[in-house]
Amino acid sequence: MSQPPRKILVTAALPYANGHIHIGHLVEYIQTDIWVRFQKLKGNRCVFLCADDTHGTAIMIRARQEGRSEEALIADMREAHIRDFDGFDIEFDNYGSTNSAANRALCGDVWSALRKSGLIVEQDVTQLFDVQEGTFLADRFVKGICPKCGAVDQYGDNCEKCGATYSPGDLKDPVSTLSGTKPELRSAKHLFVRIEDLHGFLEEWTQSGEHLQPEVANYLKGHFLGEPLRDWDVSRPAPYFGFEIPDSPGNFWYVWFDAPIGYMASLREWCERTGEQFDDWWPRSISPSAGEGSASVEIHHFIGKDITYFHTLFWPAMLNAARFQLPARVHIHGFLTVGGEKMSKSKGTFVRGRTYLDHLDPSFLRYYFASKLTAKLDDIDMNLDEFVSKINSDLVGKVVNLASRTAKFVQETGLSDSYPVDGGLFARAAAEGDAIAAAYDGCDYNAAMRSIMALADRANKFIDDLAPWTLRKDPNRAADVRNVCTIALNLFRQLAVYLAPVLPRLAKQAGELLNSPIQSWADAQQPIAGTAVSPFQHMLKRVEPEQVSKMIAASQEAPATAASATTVDGPAALAAEPLVAETISIDEFSKMDLRVARVVAAEDVKESNKLLRLTLSLGGDVNRNVFAGIKGVYQPETLVGRLVIVVANLAPRKMKFGMSEGMVLAAGPGGKDIYILSPDSGAVPGQRVH
Ligand code: 2FM
Ligand code: ZN
Repeated sequence: MSQPPRKILVTAALPYANGHIHIGHLVEYIQTDIWVRFQKLKGNRCVFLCADDTHGTAIMIRARQEGRSEEALIADMREAHIRDFDGFDIEFDNYGSTNSAANRALCGDVWSALRKSGLIVEQDVTQLFDVQEGTFLADRFVKGICPKCGAVDQYGDNCEKCGATYSPGDLKDPVSTLSGTKPELRSAKHLFVRIEDLHGFLEEWTQSGEHLQPEVANYLKGHFLGEPLRDWDVSRPAPYFGFEIPDSPGNFWYVWFDAPIGYMASLREWCERTGEQFDDWWPRSISPSAGEGSASVEIHHFIGKDITYFHTLFWPAMLNAARFQLPARVHIHGFLTVGGEKMSKSKGTFVRGRTYLDHLDPSFLRYYFASKLTAKLDDIDMNLDEFVSKINSDLVGKVVNLASRTAKFVQETGLSDSYPVDGGLFARAAAEGDAIAAAYDGCDYNAAMRSIMALADRANKFIDDLAPWTLRKDPNRAADVRNVCTIALNLFRQLAVYLAPVLPRLAKQAGELLNSPIQSWADAQQPIAGTAVSPFQHMLKRVEPEQVSKMIAASQEAPATAASATTVDGPAALAAEPLVAETISIDEFSKMDLRVARVVAAEDVKESNKLLRLTLSLGGDVNRNVFAGIKGVYQPETLVGRLVIVVANLAPRKMKFGMSEGMVLAAGPGGKDIYILSPDSGAVPGQRVH
């Protein structure tokens, strides 16, 4: 019996605008996109929203370091994020920004409601303040000596050596990582939400069994709900990149206050574009499914386990206080490890989405993650050998192979006029549609993929047994060949329907091959017959292990460059060399012709244990050959494409291996401590450096 269509609002966590999308992020976006595509294929009304998370200290500091406005920084990153999501077939209905007018207005609404319900209180907070930078320091911008075990170089809130937690004021010899200066303690007024007042509600909402995975509900009960909930600090004093609080000038909403409201702001933009009503999709009612029957909306958030706290305590508390509808479900996933370890920049397993796309087909990652994802919070391990073999054996060997081995035999005749007797194969696979659908709906994609591959095995056995390539040799068996291929292509199409949420490109190609587009989950219930068969186009090519190694090599950063843009070395790094050399005049400086150059080729100089040979483009057709003493510090492949700064008018030097026509600028004392300088994005080869 067919169910009335559901109305579903889905969100994936908003990525920070201070970093690129990497394969760790993609677990969630792929997971959510699969769920949304499945719901849409089932005929449900579903809207998929996301946005960039743009506010906070890290973005403010990064913009300052790059010498540009926060707005310019977030505009660039937004473009990059959208391009990357698109590259992985992640199809949002709206991609907003938390730095939008819609978000500011909604933050104001939620804030007034919190004020009215008397939940906002003021408290003084003492924090370390960087006088030189004129800013309070979040814990991760302070380093010093652990007050407990004496370990050096520890963050402001906890010691990685002994595990102690403390407040930044307790850290010994604190140093601001922004300026390298000693910060001082200062007090400022902060605004807090007294969420303890909502303890009863949160207990009920989290423990009802309906909205959270059981292990999440237990974690919250064990870690937070057993004692009074601490007030939540939702303001930050200026300077801060965010929205100023209208009734508290000089104070800004903390990034985690306005981020989830960004889900609503993205909805508002979508409503404005499509003419839908905001209140129909996010009603002002606290029930998790307001409205009647098919008109009610379900709100589903997909997040990683690191932000559980914000989405299962603060966010429901805010929604409840502002009388907005609560989420029907928060789906939480684990982290991605690669080869059993945390993703690592120096090992090349911290792979950016863009780097992946430069080497591999996005469908591979979508399928691989799908085969690993369950409704549990377990971490997902990406084993690179398994990745290669799974793609080749499942997608290429079992699924595409059904079509590639048979389509050519019916290209002239088209499919048989009626669907032939197949021993019940199609009907049995159709009957499994409900179980596969339930697995998708319950986020158990691993189970769905296993069932689909078992169907593919059955289909392949059928083709192997009837061997149309052998039958073809007998001119009297032409009708049999057509029938066997009709069955094979229908079984292929049925698999393509079941895989459509994961592999939308394959579903599209299957539709084109058989001149019958895949539009609905029900397309797997009825075989097709009598349609023309288009010439077979390559669908998914085998993945070669070298493609994976190249991707890893391209992701590998020398340990020195792996530091995030928000960490700035303290005075220890500066002390290694005398502070300043002898004074020179501006004329002396301007004798040096420094240029932006792009590395177009980089290779090992076999005979040398220090040198790489770089071919640099200085714009137009001006190329330079330069030897750089960076072997063992940078992998040659990782340099290709990168912008560097070169001393272009240095007298050429004849070396044993050839002529060196310039010098690439780098910082550091030498050895493994070498850091190549790069200009900010936007610079182009040939530009002069002043
Ligand atoms: O953890 C993060 O990457 C956050 N930017 C997620 C925000 S999700 C939502 F609340 F906005
Ligand atoms: Zn310690």
